[in-house]
Amino acid sequence: MHCTRLVTDDIYYVGSSDRRLALFESVFPIPRGVSYNSYLVMDEKTVLLDTVDKSVSNVFFENIAHVLNGRDLDYLIINHMEPDHAATIAEVKLRYPNAKIVATAKAIAMMGQFFDSDVAKDAQAVKEGDTLCTGRHTFAFVTAPMVHWPEVMVTYDTLDKVLFSADAFGTFGALSNLFADEFNFERDWLDDARRYYTNIVGKYGTQVQALLKKASTIDIQIICPLHGPIWRENLGYFIDKYVKWSLYTPEDNAVMIAYASVYGGTENAANVLANMLAEKGIKNIALYDVSTVHPSVIVSESFRCSHLVFASTTYNMGIFINMEIALTDLKEHALQNRKVAIIENGSWAPNSGKLMTEIISSMKNMSIYDVPVTLKSTVKESTLESLQALADQIALDF
Ligand code: FEO
Repeated sequence: MHCTRLVTDDIYYVGSSDRRLALFESVFPIPRGVSYNSYLVMDEKTVLLDTVDKSVSNVFFENIAHVLNGRDLDYLIINHMEPDHAATIAEVKLRYPNAKIVATAKAIAMMGQFFDSDVAKDAQAVKEGDTLCTGRHTFAFVTAPMVHWPEVMVTYDTLDKVLFSADAFGTFGALSNLFADEFNFERDWLDDARRYYTNIVGKYGTQVQALLKKASTIDIQIICPLHGPIWRENLGYFIDKYVKWSLYTPEDNAVMIAYASVYGGTENAANVLANMLAEKGIKNIALYDVSTVHPSVIVSESFRCSHLVFASTTYNMGIFINMEIALTDLKEHALQNRKVAIIENGSWAPNSGKLMTEIISSMKNMSIYDVPVTLKSTVKESTLESLQALADQIALDF
């Protein structure tokens, strides 16, 4: 059965949510599911903005048929070609062969890669500043390369001042309500929104900044992203998060301690340090075992926190594998501007500290505390001294 909601007088939400998928992009755990948003505008000409993942295609096509109520589909605007949004383009064209695809030239080229058919043969390529008038609405196209793929554009409806923002301003999480103001977003959604942003587009801060700069010149009243709730109130709250995340500015003055421990020695050092920091008055310390927490959480929390501590045992003369994955992930996502402390362990030849330092040093504007902490197997009195020295140094910043 169809399941739609009105966004404005004539803009309908026709997407849906998947609560069964375990790993988004086969990588990111999504225990709260994910939504694939699509919007249908019932103007003098009818316009569908983006499609959905195959997993929700049944209800998507029921939604479209219900809203069209016998009318034909005139336009299909494609902002992004990643299959979580574009997988059903060919079926839209099969069902509505008169629908004219509107997209960037790069997106149209990608359609030939993803589909065997001549789906894009009569597509209309648009570029920055081009517009499409469909009656009451005029849609202006704004390119947004690398937010999150090179072909991406966003679409601005000049009538209702709606920004159809593609992946930008999206989040993991399935929808029950539709609008961000219908949720306690900060309590229930912000962590997933941060994990989505940092892991999906975190690497492309410069490009996100470019899009935010363009967006700041237009009057936006509603943001319709391709994932997660629609924003129609308090847009500045979420835009401010994007400004911070894209500038790699810590969201919180806070400490994250991430450790990799095989038999508990390194874990004990992490807990002892956390206690010392707490005794110094530092609150809300985030402490993670990288072997039980997904790397996407470490990435997200590292974007949130100003101070990061990485504690790892030495393994095969290298960094313990799950810590190496986490650190490599942070580097790949271009994290910068953090203060970092390193704790190493090794029962006969501690080496992880040197290797972790090499990775962190290769990242931009990372300041490493010159307080080496080395354990040999377990925390001893001598280690307590160096841990306390580290805690004292970190506490100076709080
Ligand atoms: Fe939600 Fe880049 O696709």
